[in-house]
Order: sequence, then structure tokens, then C-alpha cells
Amino acid sequence: MTYRHAIARTSHEDLASGAVLHSAPGFPAFPVRLASEIFQRALALRGGDRPAVLWDPCCGGGYLLTVVALLHRRRIASVLASDLDPGARSLAERNLALLTRAGLAARAADLRARAARFGKPAYDSAAQAAHRLAAGLDAAGGDLPHAVCQADALDPVQLRRALGHRAPDIVITDVPYGEQTHWHGPGAAAGVAGMLDALTAVLPRDSVIAVTVRGRKVPAGGGPRPRASFKIGTRAVALFRT
Ligand SMILES: C[S@@+](CC[C@H](N)C(=O)[O-])C[C@H]1O[C@@H](n2cnc3c(N)ncnc32)[C@H](O)[C@@H]1O
Repeated sequence: MTYRHAIARTSHEDLASGAVLHSAPGFPAFPVRLASEIFQRALALRGGDRPAVLWDPCCGGGYLLTVVALLHRRRIASVLASDLDPGARSLAERNLALLTRAGLAARAADLRARAARFGKPAYDSAAQAAHRLAAGLDAAGGDLPHAVCQADALDPVQLRRALGHRAPDIVITDVPYGEQTHWHGPGAAAGVAGMLDALTAVLPRDSVIAVTVRGRKVPAGGGPRPRASFKIGTRAVALFRT
């Protein structure tokens, strides 16, 4: 399957993991062009023009959400990230802080200080990238409201608590695939099917859930059938509707 929306082979160098966006061992990044394609397919399936309320319930370090939000600021009203792992939560907090002008300015200052201290030009380049991302964010609508919580994606009670008053209409998530990341928690054995059940119980009707895995097919078990599915590179994607 080929790209339908992210057709141009744009350089996403400014969004590289570990440059402006924070990275850490054990927290895999995600291909940026594919992230953009999944978000746009999810928007097309949802329909309408209203900005999306976006949620990743297995957010890891928040890389996927942060790049989608920076690329598509105009089409997003707010972003929610959750994960069971407290380490993921703190990395995601640092990445989602980059969805504000103040967060990007602080990151640019930190990178410039590192450039001076270690004499590494790569830090200067990353500081310049942070300024470009800030200018892009400003031009596309400015600071993006966001929140990060700790919650088990297989437990509707915890998910409802994480949501509070929020009503996401698009979920994008790159679920554990057993190499660097695994399902955790008491319901772990239920995997993707358990997550789809839990999400369906808490999301508004007609929300779109885009699930991606490393592998040939998203293993949705006997749960809801995908409205669409496709495979690009080493990843499979399935889109569901609540
Ligand atoms: C492939 S990683 C996600 C990477 C993420 N998309 C990013 O861009 O950083 C999968 C994540 O699922 C989380 N996870 C595993 N079991 C979970 C559960 N029961 N509830 C919520 N998150 C869980 C792991 O902690 C891990 O961070």
C-alpha cells in the first residue's frame, strides 16, 4: 500500500528523535511520514472539518503524538497522552511540553547551553530546529493544550479517570509489539483486542481508533472489524470506528 495523504517526501529532520524531541533507551520513536499518513487517514474516516481531540493511550515517550501535533497543529484542538509506565509518562511530559512556545524556547536555550559546554555543532543545529518548530507552531495556531496521565489502556476505569471531561475523537496508538515493548498490567494477555474493548467503552460514539503494530497485521482478535487497514514498511495499521 502506498501513501495517500503524506505524498510528498518532505524532510522531517527537525523532528528527529533525540535532537529537539527527547529520546531515551527503551522508548522507540516512530516513522514521521507514516505518523502523518495515519493521522490524515483517521481524520478522513472521522469526517468533518472540526479540529481533532487526539489521544494516544500507549504513548511511550510521546514521540508519535508530538510529531503529529507539530505537523498538523491546525487540525488539532488538544492532545492527551497516557501510558501505564511512569517512565514513559515523564518522557512524554517532556516531549509534549514542546507543543508550546515556552517549551520550545526552553529547549532551544538548553541546546545552546549544551553546544557551548560540549563544543558540539549538532546541539547548535538542534537549537535552530527548535526555533523553526516554534515559528511553525505560532503560524499554525500557537500553543496546543495537552495533558499526560498514567493509565492502563486495558482498564476502562483507569481510562475514564484519565479522560476526565475530555472527549477524544481520534485515537492513534503504536501498541507493544514484543521487541522493545510489551503489554503490561493485569489484563496484558488480552492485548490489542482488550485495548479496543476498553477504548470502545470510554470513547464517544463515532470516534476513530488507529492502531499500528510492527508486523503483518494488527491482531484485533474477535473484536470489532477494522474499517480500513494498510501496511507500509514494517508496520501494519488498522482503523476502527466506535
Ligand atoms: C511501542 S511503545 C509506544 C511508543 C510511542 N508511540 C512513542 O512514540 O514513543 C508501546 C507502549 O505501550 C505501553 N504499554 C504497555 N502495556 C500497557 C498498558 N497495559 N497500558 C498502557 N500502556 C501500556 C508501554 O509502556 C510502551 O510505552
